[in-house]
Amino acid sequence: MPAKNALVAVDGQSAELRLRSGTMGPDVLDIGLLYKQTRMFTYDPGFTSTASCESKITYIDGDEGVLLHRGYPIEQLAEHGDFLEVCYLLLYGELPTAAQKKDFDYRVTHHTMVHEQMSRFFTGFRRDAHPMAVMCGCVGALSAFYHDSTDITDPHQRMVASLRMIAKMPTLAAMAYKYHIGQPFVYPKNDLDYASNFLRMCFAVPCEEYVVNPVLARAMDRIFILHADHEQNASTSTVRLAGSSGANPFACIAAGIACLWGPAHGGANEAALNMLNEIGTVDHIPEYIARAKDKNDPFRLMGFGHRVYKNYDPRAKIMQKTTHEVLGELGIKDDPLLEVAMELERIALTDEYFIEKKLYPNIDFYSGITLKALGFPTTMFTVLFALARTVGWIAQWNEMIEDPEQRIGRPRQLYVGEPRREYVRAPHR
Ligand code: SDX
Repeated sequence: MPAKNALVAVDGQSAELRLRSGTMGPDVLDIGLLYKQTRMFTYDPGFTSTASCESKITYIDGDEGVLLHRGYPIEQLAEHGDFLEVCYLLLYGELPTAAQKKDFDYRVTHHTMVHEQMSRFFTGFRRDAHPMAVMCGCVGALSAFYHDSTDITDPHQRMVASLRMIAKMPTLAAMAYKYHIGQPFVYPKNDLDYASNFLRMCFAVPCEEYVVNPVLARAMDRIFILHADHEQNASTSTVRLAGSSGANPFACIAAGIACLWGPAHGGANEAALNMLNEIGTVDHIPEYIARAKDKNDPFRLMGFGHRVYKNYDPRAKIMQKTTHEVLGELGIKDDPLLEVAMELERIALTDEYFIEKKLYPNIDFYSGITLKALGFPTTMFTVLFALARTVGWIAQWNEMIEDPEQRIGRPRQLYVGEPRREYVRAPHR
């Protein structure tokens, strides 16, 4: 099919720009030659209308509430798959055969330990340091230990680094939690699956045997699946930009963790639970709805709204179901936070402001209630998000390096500062 083009003409300057179509979703206008032909830039703060790359990993239809990983709907992966199977899919592009899955599980399992020196790295932090601060430091520090997998031009070294990241994040996350609460670190056990291993490293103590609850382990595994990847979100774009300079994978993932920490992004799960605690009871909900709508009040309903989803976040529905499963398994009836969350959702979804702005619950709205019920403090919620999103960051990082069109990311600007002016020494006082 002949290439379609678009003509952009301004003040006598014109540029013929190529339209490109993907498999699904909006076409793109390739503006790579715009500056060369018109000496103009595009301007799109927040990148609401900008595609930064081609990708085959994840597709989101925000209007329809669709999320596909390598073409598979998130609902089916969450229902029938396990997290390491989704990791394989995101990394390699296809679901693994039984033999491939067995080999992948074995390889990940045998990378779960971290260098023993890492445990001394933790002691530099205060015990009350936010676990996300610890994770930023420790994951970046992995660069200092694994020189044999930092040559990003070597596909083998990239895959070793990818497996190391996926395998070691649960260990580091559990160490951050144990350090935070003053308990001894628990080493991974190779006879446990990924989610069970993580729960045991978090909640086992040397004084007694820890028996993993299979229902809770399955819920943890599903929560990891729901958080695995999400197209070109802020932290993934951060990882891609860091990687575009040739930085090593551990440093790139540390950059992603730093970006995810923000309350507008991955930090929203912690902020959403803190908000539900602050609201306290359903009779306080109208006051907070009014604040969320008040332009002069910076308060926002945490866990609501999304740059892409203008319909229900499909992950939020699955998360809500998981919340009920976990609370049911733990015998937690009438959780006041769940009661507030469900009533807040009901009211918001019938409120003109939220309907008009297409604000729906996102993945962070219910995850906090589930994670709290599993035994995690709110300060660990974004750490768990980072743990799960590591595979998405790594898959996108690999795709960027292998993409012949990719080069160092270097946006331009609209300069609105002072024109040239001459230096005049200030008169002596
Ligand atoms: C994640 O990108 C991803 O894919 C992210 C993520 C992933 O998996 O990687 O899905 C994970 O980050 C989910 C989002 C978690 N964040 C929150 O729950 C924080 C609360 N939400 C908002 O901060 C906001 O909705 C964002 C940041 C999520 C989206 O911001 P946008 O797209 O820049 O939208 P916006 O801020 O321009 O809001 C549009 C309008 C504004 O009103 P107007 O200026 O047009 O009058 O909607 C309003 C906003 O004031 N609005 C809200 C609101 N979110 C948006 N009003 C009240 N409460 C909210 N939560």
